[in-house]
Amino acid sequence: MFARHGQEPACGSGVYRSDRKLVIVMVNVAVLGYGTVGSGVAEVIWKNQDKVDKSAGVPVRIKYVLDLREFPGDPVEKVLVHDFDVILNDPEVDIVVEVMGGLEPAHTFVKKALLAGKSACTSNKAMVAKFGPELMDIAKEKNVNFMFEASCGGGIPIIRAINESLTADVIDEVTGILNGTTNYMLYRMDLEGAGFDEVLKEAQDKGYAEKDPSADVDGFDASRKIAILSSLAYSGFIDFEDIPIEGIRAITPEDSMYAKLMNRSVKLLGTSSMKDGKCWALVAPFMISHKSPLYAVNGVFNAVFVHGNMLGDAMFYGSGAGKLPTASAVVGDVIEEAKNIGRYIPNNWSNEPITLMDPKDVEMRYFVRLTGMTEEKAETVFGKADEFIVLPELPDEFAMITPKMSLREYEERASQISGSIISMLRVKD
Ligand code: HSE
Repeated sequence: MFARHGQEPACGSGVYRSDRKLVIVMVNVAVLGYGTVGSGVAEVIWKNQDKVDKSAGVPVRIKYVLDLREFPGDPVEKVLVHDFDVILNDPEVDIVVEVMGGLEPAHTFVKKALLAGKSACTSNKAMVAKFGPELMDIAKEKNVNFMFEASCGGGIPIIRAINESLTADVIDEVTGILNGTTNYMLYRMDLEGAGFDEVLKEAQDKGYAEKDPSADVDGFDASRKIAILSSLAYSGFIDFEDIPIEGIRAITPEDSMYAKLMNRSVKLLGTSSMKDGKCWALVAPFMISHKSPLYAVNGVFNAVFVHGNMLGDAMFYGSGAGKLPTASAVVGDVIEEAKNIGRYIPNNWSNEPITLMDPKDVEMRYFVRLTGMTEEKAETVFGKADEFIVLPELPDEFAMITPKMSLREYEERASQISGSIISMLRVKD
């Protein structure tokens, strides 16, 4: 314990000077979970200790790592504990880093830490998307901080950019390639002409995709991330469960062949828009134009495109997952919190719910593959095509890009010729 003068300190590692001003002499951190990200957090802090301390303006030390397992021979042994209460009840712990993943007990541990007056940070998008409002309220009330830079886009500093840099702008669009696994798979499909099952196996063999790949390939992971980013960008709360999701299971090598011919590529996007008080959000695969900065984002990389009314376009690009990129973002939060012990940093978070538009009312253009009909007939159904595309390898079909229309209108028109539609993908320029 540090020597203290005067009243109870507001945090664990401060001392009161004789003029009663609290001076932080060291910041103690507890890391919950020593898995991939947790061991990365320890590695970043221990390897870059001088830089971390200099950035924080105060020594930052890992006092505890919580994990149920033992790690014989690992330096973590010196700080390993198995009981969360050791951390909770230690007044010297200033910051709790949650990198266990999953909703429970992660949520309960973070909640208890905040209630005990400790700041918390996390890489856990599922927890932020579900419990963000509750946890942010507690942080505000307790004058501590709850940060989650690593929850979206891994090592890309997008949340801090929205919270601290783009603050003069009214943001009206956020569109991201937010899932590295699916971006890798779509890229391989594009390069190799391989099918979904083949590239999934390849992604699993390389360790990019889980054994149960559903969170990635069905779009759930991206839906949490776009919900968090959009909530911050529009300063209201978007419930991820309100966001329509389509994954990439239905994408075929033929879609990639068409994309190539049109100078496009197929990307799984998390996208949202807020214009004239109307907001929508969506996770789905898109035929994206080569003119978009997102077109060139390949492999496991992530990128987030933001449009602001003064800024115009900006894109944030980088490693969206992986041990050290994710840990780097987590430790960035630790440093920010260490610099602000005893002070809640105002941010864009708001618990005011944002009601999303009916997805059927959102207007887009559609890439449609058709068979058993003429181009003239297709135009009678959908209106004048922006483009017709014919692949020599697929003589029994053609594709068109429709004019802009709502999904409701598209579905009504498509129902007239449902037997002729092979597939549909949304279009983005
Ligand atoms: N499964 C995620 C991805 C990990 O592929 O992007 C990072 O959240």
